[in-house]
Amino acid sequence: MPHRHRGKFITFEGLDGVGKSTQLERLAKHLRERGLNVITTREPGGTTLGEKLRSVLLSSRTSGLSPLAELALMFADRAQHLDEQILPALQRGAWVLCDRFTDSSEAYQGGGRQIGSENVLQLHRILCHDFQPDLTILMMSDMARTVARARRRNVAQSKQMQDDENRFEKENRAFYERVLAAYVAIASREPERVVQVDATDAIPKVHKKILQITEERLMPAQRGAREKTS
Ligand code: TYD
Repeated sequence: MPHRHRGKFITFEGLDGVGKSTQLERLAKHLRERGLNVITTREPGGTTLGEKLRSVLLSSRTSGLSPLAELALMFADRAQHLDEQILPALQRGAWVLCDRFTDSSEAYQGGGRQIGSENVLQLHRILCHDFQPDLTILMMSDMARTVARARRRNVAQSKQMQDDENRFEKENRAFYERVLAAYVAIASREPERVVQVDATDAIPKVHKKILQITEERLMPAQRGAREKTS
């Protein structure tokens, strides 16, 4: 993709319940107020096909899904999402903020399900043009607290919905430890793309930190100008 006028692609990663979607929406609001065209989206989901795949992938009614089938469905979702939504939006000059991307597959299927990073990265090369985010915010928090929060939230939501999104939250501690270890390994392998953010602070403080990282990494000229006038 020609780089000159394209928008920026920012992904949010971390364990279930760490507060990604709140921070993603806050950053989107801020960037819109600065006059940028911003779209927010998520994986699995983000397209008509993706939302159907999401309900299969996340519903605890889905039983016996093999780890490789799960990985294949995550990538079917992503390949469609990239070609239908993400790449055209970037091409138009929009900024795309996405809740989860390939790092989630590397962490959950590669690490959690023990399929291995290399298999996931190979699929990314074949199915997703090896397309990389400009910036990935990896939100880190205490594992037990984060997963417990996601479980409580999903139980509350599933009371209002016909189906639930609890399949992953039913996994055990060892699974989430592997997911977390895979995330940490990605961050140390690609420090130029992935920035870890302490998500245990209050929401406004975490937002400020994420904004600062975004400015430093993706809008250095604007940051310089703002500092001169303040
Ligand atoms: P999400 O809706 O972001 O959950 P939460 O808001 O709880 O963080 O993601 C749904 C689940 O899907 C989450 O448990 C992680 C899992 N997932 C994978 O296992 N692999 C993937 O590639 C993606 C995108 C998500």
